[in-house]
Amino acid sequence: MTNQKVLFIGAGRMAEAIAAGLIHTNASMNERIVMTNQRDKKRLAELKEKYVVDVTQDWEAEVKNATTIVLAMPPEVHDEVLEKLSKLVTNQFVITVAAGIGPSYLEERLPAHTAVAWIMPNTAATIGESISLYAVGSSLSESHKQALTVILNSIGSSQLCTEDEVRYLTAITGSAPAFVAYFSEALIDSAMSYGVSKELAQKLVVQMMSGSANLIKHAANPSAVRKQVTTPGGATAEGLKVMEQHRFKEMIHRAVDATNSKANGSIKGVKRERLI
Ligand SMILES: NC(=O)c1ccc[n+]([C@@H]2O[C@H](COP(=O)([O-])OP(=O)(O)OC[C@H]3O[C@@H](n4cnc5c(N)ncnc54)[C@H](OP(=O)(O)O)[C@@H]3O)[C@@H](O)[C@H]2O)c1
Repeated sequence: MTNQKVLFIGAGRMAEAIAAGLIHTNASMNERIVMTNQRDKKRLAELKEKYVVDVTQDWEAEVKNATTIVLAMPPEVHDEVLEKLSKLVTNQFVITVAAGIGPSYLEERLPAHTAVAWIMPNTAATIGESISLYAVGSSLSESHKQALTVILNSIGSSQLCTEDEVRYLTAITGSAPAFVAYFSEALIDSAMSYGVSKELAQKLVVQMMSGSANLIKHAANPSAVRKQVTTPGGATAEGLKVMEQHRFKEMIHRAVDATNSKANGSIKGVKRERLI
């Protein structure tokens, strides 16, 4: 249960994922959610109809009624919103889900002792299966921590990190779903190269990915699953040998590095030091 009154600034995909998760997991929560945006009235009408939440384009008027404010708009509009918000917050808990906007960024722009947190969910939040990284500011009370837990649990599982860890691990938890999808696309192309229809190839690969993910989760050890499938000297071993010859792991490391360089530029050195 939660007594939070949550104001969302931004009403896009991530705001909907969190609002839907909160409503799904907490009785009558829809009565304590207000969703806002700047431009798209049609979107607000859809959310109101679907979730029976309050909606408005005047978020500033709603700040006084909120206990928790979730910033779910693009990173580049945070400065403008935080400037307005800093004049309105009293003791609200301010949480951002924006890429690159850590707790220190929020604390610098909000009044002293404002409780702040940074959640980095991934796209699986939309089905309640996110692994969300999060970092917190220096002014959280126990009740803030409980409020944060309610939000995190409503979209999946979570991991408390330092601010730097959130920055460099977002490539792994946030961007890697796209890498996994790309790997699946390659397998679908392979199946189709043997004359199989796209529909059948997709069905087979999707089920294989889902079963493999569950198996890896159950075993809690990807290497054990790989060894279980791979008879020494057998057919799967031949396929893995080609992946090794073409430096599959190195390619993945490079993809993670490139993602981090683009997202964070200067933290590359930190990442290597921590992971090795
Ligand atoms: N989607 C993901 O998988 C994902 C994962 C992790 C983190 N995030 C983060 O979540 C945040 C939102 O992403 P999203 O995917 O939900 O984006 P989105 O679907 O494009 O939604 C963005 C929302 O922000 C609103 N907005 C834009 N400018 C605003 C302003 N000045 N004031 C108030 N609202 C404003 C937009 O509505 P109007 O244009 O009508 O104002 C829209 O409702 C981003 O910061 C992103 O980095 C997303």
